Amino acid sequence: MVDNPPAPTAQAQSDQLKLCHWGQQRRILLGLVCSSFVSLLLGLAVYYHTPKKTTSPPGTPQQAPLPCLSPACMKAAARLSVAADPFTQPCDYFLGSCGAGGQAVATRGRQRGKELNMGKRGREEWLAGKKRQGREVHLVTDIQTNTDALPDRLSDRQTALLQAIREILESPDRPGSVNSAEQKVRRFYRSCMDTRTIEQLGSQPVLKLIDKLGGWAVSGKWNHSDFNFTLSLLMKEYSTFPFFSVYVGKDRNDSDSSSHRKYIQIDQPEFQIPVEWDSNENKSKLKLQNVRQSLSFHLQLLGLLGVPFGSTNLHTGLFLQLSSQLALAASPLTHRLQHKLLYQRMTVRELQAAAPAIDWLSCLQATFHPIHVSQSELVLLHNLPYIIHMSRTISKWQHNQEMSGSGPLHTFMVLSLLHKVIPALNSKFTEIQRNLSIGFGDTQEVVPHWNKCVLEAERGFDTVLMLLMRERVGERETKELMQDIYSSLKSKLSTLKWRDEESHSLVLNMVRSLTLRLSTSKENLSQSKIDQHYSEVPVSEDDYFSNYLQSLSLQQKRRNKCFLQTTAPDIFSFTPSLASAEIDIPVGMFVPPFFHPSFPRAVNYGILGTLLAKEILHLLLPDIQSQSETPQRVSECVWAHYRRLTETSHKADPPPLTPAQQQEIWLQHTALHIALQAYNQRLLKCHGDTSLSSLSHTHLFLASFAQINCDSFNEPLPFEPFFLVTVICMNSDLCPRTMTCSHNSQQGFSQKC
Ligand SMILES: *[C@@H]1O[C@H](CO)[C@@H](O)[C@H](O)[C@H]1NC(C)=O
Ligand SMILES: *[C@@H]1O[C@H](CO)[C@@H](O)[C@H](O)[C@H]1NC(C)=O
Ligand SMILES: *[C@@H]1O[C@H](CO)[C@@H](O)[C@H](O)[C@H]1NC(C)=O
Ligand SMILES: *[C@@H]1O[C@H](CO)[C@@H](O)[C@H](O)[C@H]1NC(C)=O
Ligand SMILES: *[C@@H]1O[C@H](CO)[C@@H](O)[C@H](O)[C@H]1NC(C)=O
Ligand SMILES: *[C@@H]1O[C@H](CO)[C@@H](O)[C@H](O)[C@H]1NC(C)=O
Repeated sequence: MVDNPPAPTAQAQSDQLKLCHWGQQRRILLGLVCSSFVSLLLGLAVYYHTPKKTTSPPGTPQQAPLPCLSPACMKAAARLSVAADPFTQPCDYFLGSCGAGGQAVATRGRQRGKELNMGKRGREEWLAGKKRQGREVHLVTDIQTNTDALPDRLSDRQTALLQAIREILESPDRPGSVNSAEQKVRRFYRSCMDTRTIEQLGSQPVLKLIDKLGGWAVSGKWNHSDFNFTLSLLMKEYSTFPFFSVYVGKDRNDSDSSSHRKYIQIDQPEFQIPVEWDSNENKSKLKLQNVRQSLSFHLQLLGLLGVPFGSTNLHTGLFLQLSSQLALAASPLTHRLQHKLLYQRMTVRELQAAAPAIDWLSCLQATFHPIHVSQSELVLLHNLPYIIHMSRTISKWQHNQEMSGSGPLHTFMVLSLLHKVIPALNSKFTEIQRNLSIGFGDTQEVVPHWNKCVLEAERGFDTVLMLLMRERVGERETKELMQDIYSSLKSKLSTLKWRDEESHSLVLNMVRSLTLRLSTSKENLSQSKIDQHYSEVPVSEDDYFSNYLQSLSLQQKRRNKCFLQTTAPDIFSFTPSLASAEIDIPVGMFVPPFFHPSFPRAVNYGILGTLLAKEILHLLLPDIQSQSETPQRVSECVWAHYRRLTETSHKADPPPLTPAQQQEIWLQHTALHIALQAYNQRLLKCHGDTSLSSLSHTHLFLASFAQINCDSFNEPLPFEPFFLVTVICMNSDLCPRTMTCSHNSQQGFSQKC
């Protein structure tokens, strides 16, 4: 027997289903209609929550829920059908464990969370982590090549998000103005995917680019363009920072932590050759072996550009020499932290005096155009000794008569730009770059080409994609889910046992004062505004290289936006964050297979509802163990249940739970409870839900939850997440009866968690 929500009549159920799917403008009317059901529902609610052996009320006809047949639902149903149904083996399915097989899963999850919190800068690391992960977990990432292989667990969230953006980019253009931003981003993506054209063009686009910069001594055609002018141009138009890097952010070292003031920050650059720290001499160095690799790479690169062989050695040699000299003064973060080199404030004028070889004002003005930068602007430096050393080195090279004819500084800048644009060139270039990074010890797998194209499209067109994402997620459905989860969370928190009255009222007041908001609703994303923003951006169907240059130039606008906004929404984030009186819920959480507006609510609440509840608890109560004893009690109770049920299968006593595990077990258990309660409340309000595979509502909810990947956790649980369902089912009558495992129920385990 499976459970069913109370169903007065088939007709009423299907009517109610429709009612709850009405548009927003009919809310008020809906309210009126719903209110007429209130007394009936209240009665049913009491009935529903009264423990019974079978939750299907006698005298009510068994009503199969209406199936959801949307394309997204069909995929979800297919995934469900191949997933192991824990209900069929209620006694052993949870014997596996997320932590088993090594800490890899755990550390990966934790690191990812941290990286994502770092925001934009963390993105590169995140992507690196993403690539690492691809090897460890077998995921279906390419639906076109893997149409018949469905994973039995949900793919990880990054993959799902990239896939969702990919679908947006690959969907056909809507009729409308030919030059809308939406069409431009799709055209950008198509030009990136059009590898045939990219192959045909060869090195021609990059040679044109070098001409545009006034040539270079390497080819014998250089017009001796001004150093400061070229540097400003690279920073402004090509987002390339050869000698130092520039970005925008808060002063972490600011005593006033509530201050939103943003500063220009100047740091050592990313070198083209890995820099090694010699901890005996406290100095940075380039490894000889890496220099050799780099030498061979540059010889190949110049060869591809058709540079005569006689000239390549000299210029490559000078490039490597300059790189080594600059790298000497670079140092790792730990060293700089120890020596208090981070967040040093000075004005542009003071910086100019300290490092005169760069025209700082004009470079910064170019980088942040049209934002005004003045001589008295405060900037933050993260390695002043490097900046001073860099300035001296540049002056020395500038005034060295012997070398000035070969323009090594200019060549250095052009080569930095080439490194930047190689991803947009044909496979000959990308292959030698790939070989170079392998030579530097990078063992990462090659990401699929579509994956790169999605990331590139996002770099230049983030706001367009935000808008398209927001349209897709379904504003009403996301809002409803967020509100239901949050109100269920609030009522759950009021039942916690607090250690003292003070932290009790502190937490409850905070929770009460906050509201949830979808990250995209913060920005004024209107289509016309976005179209306007991109009106001057030409995107061509068959010239990926120029499109790529456009996107580099768009990154400058993005940098400027960081200046003006408190927090710029990041499409690749799926960690909620606090922003004044709001909890910012990233739109990237709401993608299939975790969520879809057409999914039965049972699926959305079971998967995303649980994850959302967990993330919010994590955000609001990072320190819960010091404030309440409940987490420890609950986690130990859950663990005791688990030990009892698996008594026969383990020989030695497992180690006691760590505080981190205790917290995670409580988080997961509570989050599942919150989501299930929110779902039941919603069923009562709307009285009905669609279904998949003819599963009853609660069964579908729990089966969906069961698909949550171990990967979604911050800390590894010592058991399969689905075991939490067993615990909840044993403590309530919410679950199908078959869930109960006979050999344990007889033991009369009376403890409730
Ligand atoms: C060199 O060429 C660049 C780009 O064409 C141009 O902007 C610059 O003025 C030229 N410099 C000289 C010294 O001719
Ligand atoms: C290098 O730094 C470490 C720690 O800051 C210090 O103990 C050591 O003496 C330094 N070595 C040299 C050669 O300066
Ligand atoms: C900020 O960092 C500098 C080190 O550069 C240090 O001297 C200063 O005391 C720090 N200020 C605050 C407010 O922590
Ligand atoms: C760049 O401009 C600054 C300020 O005008 C000047 O002092 C410096 O010599 C220039 N650098 C080079 C390498 O020409
Ligand atoms: C890259 O490395 C592979 C394996 O070592 C080699 O077969 C290939 O020829 C290299 N490609 C280029 C362009 O050097
Ligand atoms: C959004 O735009 C409207 C009209 O363009 C403006 O009145 C409103 O202040 C803007 N809101 C934000 C948050 O920028």
